[in-house]
Amino acid sequence: MIAPARITVLISGTGTNLKALIQHQSAYHVSHVISNKPGAGGLKVARQAGIPTTVVERSSFPSNDAFKEGVLSAVKATDPTVIVLAGFMALLSHSFVAAFPGKILNIHPSLLPELPGLNTHQRALDAGAGRHGCTVHIVDNGVDTGPRIAQAAFDISKTDTLETLASRVQEREHSLYPWVVEQFALGEISVDGTTLRCSDRAHREASEKGFTIC
Ligand code: GRF
Repeated sequence: MIAPARITVLISGTGTNLKALIQHQSAYHVSHVISNKPGAGGLKVARQAGIPTTVVERSSFPSNDAFKEGVLSAVKATDPTVIVLAGFMALLSHSFVAAFPGKILNIHPSLLPELPGLNTHQRALDAGAGRHGCTVHIVDNGVDTGPRIAQAAFDISKTDTLETLASRVQEREHSLYPWVVEQFALGEISVDGTTLRCSDRAHREASEKGFTIC
């Protein structure tokens, strides 16, 4: 039997996506969690699940560049098959992206290419958007610009508020992200440069689950 893919998850916050990823382990294995914030709730989630953790803090380094190199070294030391960003609020260096081409995934709380960046729920409300959701994409050197893999979307209702939108997106993130990571680990979904390859099986499953393959 082939060993499950080794996933290193990078976090900065509460780690609800990390928790969902841990709960869905089978084809992949969350082998390490790295945080740039020592107080991140997600570290507790990892420790409770018996997953080794590493903290790489900006304040331990003399410069931003040195910090980014520190993050890269910490990730390399975990020997990952796939790197999963789950609310990691620090920019990666170009050498990081080059070290793991097509192997770094991120989840973003909007329907990319709409609303890259921060405060997506408020911006969706302010824009009077009809649809909202989340996107899993490959990380490149831009901010939320890499090749998109899959999305989970819903209609915004007249009664939606910042809080309800945040919770509706989060609920979808917790089903979309583990599924994409699993398909990626199984080789059912892959990205070659900017070309997305997705098997018929993964397409079928995505549509059964209400996800859109990009
Ligand atoms: C999620 O909303 C994700 O889309 C964004 O960061 C947030 C992480 O939340 N990239 P959590 O720490 O997983 O709860």
